Amino acid sequence: MQGKNIVLIGGSYGIGASLADMISTAGANLWVLSRSKASAGRHIAFNAVTDRIDQTVLPDIIHGLAYLPGSIQLKPISRLTDEELLHDLNINALCAARCIRDVLPLLKKAEQASIVLFSTVAAQQGMPFHSSVAMAKGAVEGLTRALAAELAPRIRVNAVAPSLTDTPLAAKFLSTADRKMASAKRHPLMRIGTAGDVAHAAFYLLSDASSWITGQVLHVDGGLSAVRL
Ligand SMILES: NC(=O)c1ccc[n+]([C@@H]2O[C@H](COP(=O)([O-])OP(=O)(O)OC[C@H]3O[C@@H](n4cnc5c(N)ncnc54)[C@H](OP(=O)(O)O)[C@@H]3O)[C@@H](O)[C@H]2O)c1
Repeated sequence: MQGKNIVLIGGSYGIGASLADMISTAGANLWVLSRSKASAGRHIAFNAVTDRIDQTVLPDIIHGLAYLPGSIQLKPISRLTDEELLHDLNINALCAARCIRDVLPLLKKAEQASIVLFSTVAAQQGMPFHSSVAMAKGAVEGLTRALAAELAPRIRVNAVAPSLTDTPLAAKFLSTADRKMASAKRHPLMRIGTAGDVAHAAFYLLSDASSWITGQVLHVDGGLSAVRL
């Protein structure tokens, strides 16, 4: 990671902030594009929904790109509005595809580069009230595999699929000790995730340590997707 140029879309808090700290500590050059200020790296004010990436504020070569913005909107389908469905698809998948497209020329200049996207445990396992986010993250997983094929062998593309992780995005589900305990108990490893748990997986996928891995969805979910006790 030392000396590489890494760009995070989102990195001001949550999993992205933890990932930003790891990247900085590893000696990489870091650019964070988000709406609020980031504590690590060079911050560039950017809204993934409304703005296009200005390549001139980025380095000439990019070795790693991660796209963090996402949503957790849990509702029965009968109560989901068109706007909510479109918002989830947009922030999770369409804006990710647009950001990748816009920095691709800079990723292509690297001898080896890595893109990391974020899915959810609910994309591959059916869970009630998750239809909007599952649909949007299903698109992210499709994008991951399609781009892994299209951009091989120089650019790897993988995704991390977390279960409930203690970040601002999940705050409303973890607002009381009882809610936290109930969520922890749903996981075979009997706890919810920390931002660091998930950031470590993304850091690995961005780094050369994963140089023979592409087109994969790495499940970081306390065992929820694979283990039944
Ligand atoms: N936390 C969980 O339980 C969980 C579970 C499954 C999947 N995930 C996925 O993991 C990823 C990271 O989740 P998280 O919990 O760390 O989310 P988070 O706490 O909401 O952090 C998201 C980051 O993305 C940035 N961001 C959000 N909207 C943006 C926009 N329009 N333009 C630019 N930046 C934007 C935020 O910065 P600004 O607000 O400053 O722009 C922040 O830095 C997401 O894709 C999420 O869907 C999370």
